[in-house]
Amino acid sequence: MELNPAEESTLHGDNGPVKQKAIEILVALGEIFGADRLIEVGSVQVSGVSYKTIGDAGLQWIESMSSEKVVVPTTLNPTGMDLRLWKQMGVSDEFAEKQIRIIKAYINLGAKTLCSCAPYLSGQSPKLNEHIAWSESSAVCYANSVLGARTNREGGPSALAAAFIGKTPNYGYHLDENRQPTLQVEVDVPLHEESDFGAMGASIGKKVNNGVPYFIGVQSPNADGLKSLAASLAASGGVALYHVKGVTPEAASVELDGVEKMVFTSEDISSSYEELSTFHSGEVDVIAIGCPHASLSEMRKVAGLIKGKKVAKNTKLWVFTSVSTKLMAERFGYLGDIVKAGGEVYTDCCMVVAPVEEFGFKTMAVNSAKAAIYGPSASKVGTIFGTTGRCVDIAVKGYA
Ligand code: F3S
Repeated sequence: MELNPAEESTLHGDNGPVKQKAIEILVALGEIFGADRLIEVGSVQVSGVSYKTIGDAGLQWIESMSSEKVVVPTTLNPTGMDLRLWKQMGVSDEFAEKQIRIIKAYINLGAKTLCSCAPYLSGQSPKLNEHIAWSESSAVCYANSVLGARTNREGGPSALAAAFIGKTPNYGYHLDENRQPTLQVEVDVPLHEESDFGAMGASIGKKVNNGVPYFIGVQSPNADGLKSLAASLAASGGVALYHVKGVTPEAASVELDGVEKMVFTSEDISSSYEELSTFHSGEVDVIAIGCPHASLSEMRKVAGLIKGKKVAKNTKLWVFTSVSTKLMAERFGYLGDIVKAGGEVYTDCCMVVAPVEEFGFKTMAVNSAKAAIYGPSASKVGTIFGTTGRCVDIAVKGYA
């Protein structure tokens, strides 16, 4: 890799040990993946924020860098708890104490506590062709695909390194040649619900792995459907970029000659729904909506479905979103409708990275294919995957 004199000087330690370590990480990655140079990034999104996922070792590592500050706008992935309502969630004092230390450590580094996996819904929205270094897999896939920004799937350390240097190695999805489709999918089934997009993404992600699917025939998808598709493609495969003909910004300019083709049918979507549920009937302890974090329109949908009803006595309806979306939902009246019905709306966190084992939940219903993929392993809960309407219906009845 070619480094300029300023970068060489950082590599030699002239700008302190933290920046030296950061540029070492970036150069090592660049050399492994054949990057020619470092390129500037417009923003960074760092994963590895929940105490559940990074533990004491991660906490100490972040605290050890307190002498340094990030040099580009940097936001964080969800933490393990709502930073204000953690007691209401049932999070223990021990977990909360560690989680708050992690957040303080990130604040010391200059990161912003927009703790969301959908920062693009809260003002952190990169523009077409802008290079960024994001690490949450669904956000990476959404930013590359729907916004046309350019990012690899960064790990927590490489994202933080990019935040300290303001640059990332020029390889992978930063380059035109790696943004070409590897599989054409003709969608021969109407997709109405966010969960339909999730079901399709879970199925295609497994087939394409870390390739680039190109979808044809998706009728006027909304942003919530595209968000759900990004999350499930990234969770079931390693997809970081997809194209939808007539919808996403790069779809018109890619090369399709010789790309393998397949058809996605109504049978495929039914089997995906079936496969993503690990149980089908019985009492449900919690209904979790908002993976990735719910948008304002998703909050409106839940509010409309639950308004005038009551969440069943032994069941919880939890909706996860960002601080800014919750504030807007309050202004629009959606928050009031959900809370009045007995639902709870939490920010800064999500069901997958929260210490669910502390809450005693055994069963969960979700409208997110990604949550259905991770629920059984990350949260040790039996999972039902269904539409938002079915999830709210389960919340009211208390069972499926
Ligand atoms: Fe976001 Fe948590 Fe889902 S980080 S994408 S809500 S697993």
